[in-house]
Amino acid sequence: MRERLRARNEWTLADALRRADGRLAAAWWAILVLRGLLPALFAVAMGALIGAAQRGAGLTAPLGLVGVVFVLLQVLPPVHKAVGANLGSRTAAWLYDQLTRACVRPPGMGHLEDPKLTSDLTMARDFDLGITGPPMSISMDFIAGGLVEMVGGLASAVVLAAYAWWASPLLVGAWLATHWLLRESAVWRDRNTEEVRQAQRHADYAYRLAVEAPAAKELRLFGLGTWTVERFRTQRRRLFELQWKATRLRERPVLGSLLLVLAANVVVFWSLGAAAADGRLPLDRLVTFASAALSTSMIAFGGLSWALDGAAAPAAAVLRLQAAMDPAGALVRGHVTPARMPAREIRFREVSFSYPTSGGPVLAGFDLTIPAGSSLAIVGQNGAGKTTIAKLLCRLYDPQAGSIEADGVDLRALDIDGWRSRVAAVFQDFIRFELPLRDNVAPAGAPDDVVRAALAEAGAAGLAELGTVLARAYPGGTELSGGQWQRIALARALCAVRLGAGVVLLDEPTAQLDVRGEAEIFDRVLAATRHTTTILISHRFSTVRHADRICVLERGKVVELGTHEELIAAGGRYRTMFELQASRFSEDAEAGATLDVLD
Ligand SMILES: Nc1ncnc2c1ncn2[C@@H]1O[C@H](COP(=O)(O)OP(=O)(O)O)[C@@H](O)[C@H]1O
Ligand SMILES: [Mg+2]
Repeated sequence: MRERLRARNEWTLADALRRADGRLAAAWWAILVLRGLLPALFAVAMGALIGAAQRGAGLTAPLGLVGVVFVLLQVLPPVHKAVGANLGSRTAAWLYDQLTRACVRPPGMGHLEDPKLTSDLTMARDFDLGITGPPMSISMDFIAGGLVEMVGGLASAVVLAAYAWWASPLLVGAWLATHWLLRESAVWRDRNTEEVRQAQRHADYAYRLAVEAPAAKELRLFGLGTWTVERFRTQRRRLFELQWKATRLRERPVLGSLLLVLAANVVVFWSLGAAAADGRLPLDRLVTFASAALSTSMIAFGGLSWALDGAAAPAAAVLRLQAAMDPAGALVRGHVTPARMPAREIRFREVSFSYPTSGGPVLAGFDLTIPAGSSLAIVGQNGAGKTTIAKLLCRLYDPQAGSIEADGVDLRALDIDGWRSRVAAVFQDFIRFELPLRDNVAPAGAPDDVVRAALAEAGAAGLAELGTVLARAYPGGTELSGGQWQRIALARALCAVRLGAGVVLLDEPTAQLDVRGEAEIFDRVLAATRHTTTILISHRFSTVRHADRICVLERGKVVELGTHEELIAAGGRYRTMFELQASRFSEDAEAGATLDVLD
């Protein structure tokens, strides 16, 4: 029980408030407690006022006290609301800072793909957008309201204890019982169950399909508009139903709790009345105790509300992710400086690798040596493991067995940032920065003439001014076609080579181009990187003939390796595929077609 209590998300929220803005949080709590004390104080002040009037004593002090309490009752709620809204915004901002840092910090990327972390990630990412509940700046007022009532009820019970030791526990118990009896989850059950998060994930996905540009083409083409909207509505409805179910009133125990509360109040008030009738309880004390007994009922409405859970669950998710992401995305950090590596070779030695998140091995006992300064093409069908090799070489993952070495040094022994600065890679799903052309080519900065030279090498000279933002949503911005973007990505890699990268890795950034387009790009790259270690990856066999060596990959294994001429002479897999694809290529050329029919 104590463990469960300690594991509650609400503590994490309190901690997050403090860490987001300590002084504001302290003010918010102080006002909260003060507001909570006011009803009890009011009961005492009224008693004092009546007592003074009866005794004919001076009324200034008791009247002043009543006045102060009354004014505070009016003034504190709006002040509290403003402080809470401010604190809520700051806390949300702080949590987002924590989240973005936690996502970016690990050197690997396992933490972003780990299904165990996805549901926390979904919740943490969107919690303040108002999609599944009010944003934190608004929630804080609901949360404050509930806690003020709870403190108010308990403080009044303390005053009541001065009347009789048994009266407070009796009333507190009866009113507290309503929480368990009526609001089954409001106190003890999270609204953000795994089921809720699942529904949220589905709703979120359907929503993105509807409102984001990338899905627009297929949605229309396949007539999926209504389907998407329906899906979104169904999932959202399910989400709300689940949340509602977790917070709803239970009808049956309503009568029970009503009777319990009624009985407890009857006992207390009957006792107060009897004592007053006997003359044992003077009028001033009767007023104080009766109004304290009334205010104790605030307990029923106070406490841990759904708003508290709504704010606490994502706060806990963010802090959980912070703790979980570092190990999930961790990689060994070596300290060897890879100054001019590779000077001799890159070698995959008996490498075995399977993705942490899913089953079978992608590579098993994979062996491959790439002499430094030469070019190698890796060709193979989809799913053969080509991209995996590229990612391992960038050290986005580490192999489970075997090693990848540069000049005989295990990559894990190298300083990871140093190694990555040696590698320029363009992936199939390369990033398209909504930034000026210059920053797209050299995100970390480079002289303009280097940027221009790289663009020219990539066949992208004159696409746009270096300062033009590559997104139409920005003033003066422009939109590029898929093929133009590919050339920009290529220029990024070539620019990195000019800035000193020693390895260039192209993982099918040209898959959207036709065969001739891809062959042209590969030839450009080979020409521009003649003395650099270059790795070209393609699922097409007919575009890489100019690479120094070609490696045919099948199910994570090298099945053929040699120059184009050697492999053709060998008459194996490469030759079959090359001839098949090259014949289509020339037929297309004759017909003037530009589509690669094999894709
Ligand atoms: N992030 C990932 N998590 C789990 N499995 C993956 C991941 N990426 C790829 N795979 C699996 O690894 C295998 C090889 O994929 P990949 O290296 O991308 O092939 P290729 O680039 O040759 O098409 C495939 O079976 C694929 O499903
Ligand atoms: Mg791939």
